Amino acid sequence: MSNAPAEEIAAEEIDLTEANEIIDKYLTLPGNLMPVLQGIQDAYGFVPKPTIDLVAERLNVYPSQIYGVLTFYAQFHLKPRGKFIIRVCVGTACHVQGAERITETFFGRLGIGHAETTEDLRYTFEKVACLGACGMAPLAMVNDDTYGKMTVQKVDEIIETYNARPMK
Ligand code: FES
Repeated sequence: MSNAPAEEIAAEEIDLTEANEIIDKYLTLPGNLMPVLQGIQDAYGFVPKPTIDLVAERLNVYPSQIYGVLTFYAQFHLKPRGKFIIRVCVGTACHVQGAERITETFFGRLGIGHAETTEDLRYTFEKVACLGACGMAPLAMVNDDTYGKMTVQKVDEIIETYNARPMK
């Protein structure tokens, strides 16, 4: 399943008021590109395309320069992200303990793949490198919650738990 529809909906609904306020705050300060982009990401959860055009125009920088910054730093996201970010570790210890089966199970249950977001914006899924808790392999995280010794059954329990959480 593609995440394109979620992107299109989000792009249509972008209200630039907040982006303009963030730019106003930093407009006259030197080195303002990073704080402006960080502010926009905090406000919108990602950096929507219309805000990139706005920043380019108001800060008088090339959009290509902004894309350079956004793609260089892993903290920035160009697509809408889910409320719940599911990360499955695919580092060596987790791989040996069956991380692939866990990943495939999430893919099957959620209908999305790596770095994709469900259409309802509830979940984003990411494979990640070692999370530093190899003793608990295979490891998954949902936002800041850690789930060790993952099994297929635990995948279902996690999805049930976060399906029941409110979106607001
Ligand atoms: S390899 Fe998965 S936590 Fe280290």
